[in-house]
Amino acid sequence: MEKFNDKVVLITGGTSGIGKATAQQFIEQGATVIITGRHQDTVDQTARELGERGHGVVADSSSISDLKKLAETVKSKTGKVDVLFVNAGYGKFAPIPEIDEEHYSQQFDVLVKGSIFTVQSILPLMGEGSNIILNTSVVTEQGMPGASVYSAAKSAVQSLLKTFAAELSEQKIRVNAVSPGPIETDFFNKTGMNDEEQEGFAETVLDKVPMKRFGKSKEIADAVLFLASENASYIHGTEIYIDGGMVQF
Ligand SMILES: NC(=O)c1ccc[n+]([C@@H]2O[C@H](COP(=O)([O-])OP(=O)(O)OC[C@H]3O[C@@H](n4cnc5c(N)ncnc54)[C@H](OP(=O)(O)O)[C@@H]3O)[C@@H](O)[C@H]2O)c1
Repeated sequence: MEKFNDKVVLITGGTSGIGKATAQQFIEQGATVIITGRHQDTVDQTARELGERGHGVVADSSSISDLKKLAETVKSKTGKVDVLFVNAGYGKFAPIPEIDEEHYSQQFDVLVKGSIFTVQSILPLMGEGSNIILNTSVVTEQGMPGASVYSAAKSAVQSLLKTFAAELSEQKIRVNAVSPGPIETDFFNKTGMNDEEQEGFAETVLDKVPMKRFGKSKEIADAVLFLASENASYIHGTEIYIDGGMVQF
């Protein structure tokens, strides 16, 4: 049975990796899905791949005016949002001496400002029984050299989870988060590390993962669909770690 028939799902950063895999699964489960990204070509391409219930809107999550326009477009297209997956983001890594203002601002803009203003813009389209799912990261639980700014920004998102959940309880909107460990996506190509540094990083990270492998986008998508479903009807304000045990031992 399709679990999300007649549901509208908005996924920020849905053109690749975790967001795209989640969009595909919601489509398979009967939902109408709107994805965002910063580039017209990848947004159009992804919307085409999703099929007739898939839509794409170009919106930069670090721009409040883009997020307001996104809300207007979604309102005119579907009139409502049942599930909002606040997923857009990337991690830029640098050792402390190399962090500059641009690095700091860009990371906090897409992850923290982006989460706050995505939720603020879309909230008027969300009714009782709808769901917000944030995307945090295991970096909130473990010190990882080079990841100061990214980890601090994701820790702010983790904090938003608690406050959003407390504040939206009265409106009967559940708010939860997925906290991925290392997942096979384009993420690591965008960190600023070269191939050799990425290999070294992967080795160090895998040492810390009891299951000794990277996760797959589908494994995060499974958790998002669970949190958005009636099977999770009493789960509110929490994070699910999908990390092969990385932060559990
Ligand atoms: N992969 C991991 O190991 C891992 C672990 C923990 C958490 N996460 C989190 O998972 C989320 C998705 O990452 P991923 O691993 O799936 O990486 P990915 O394959 O690089 O996907 C990132 C997505 O976010 C979009 N995006 C980036 N900046 C954006 C912006 N300013 N506005 C709108 N969209 C934006 C990208 O689209 P465009 O570039 O086309 O705009 C793309 O669709 C991120 O929040 C990341 O921090 C990933």
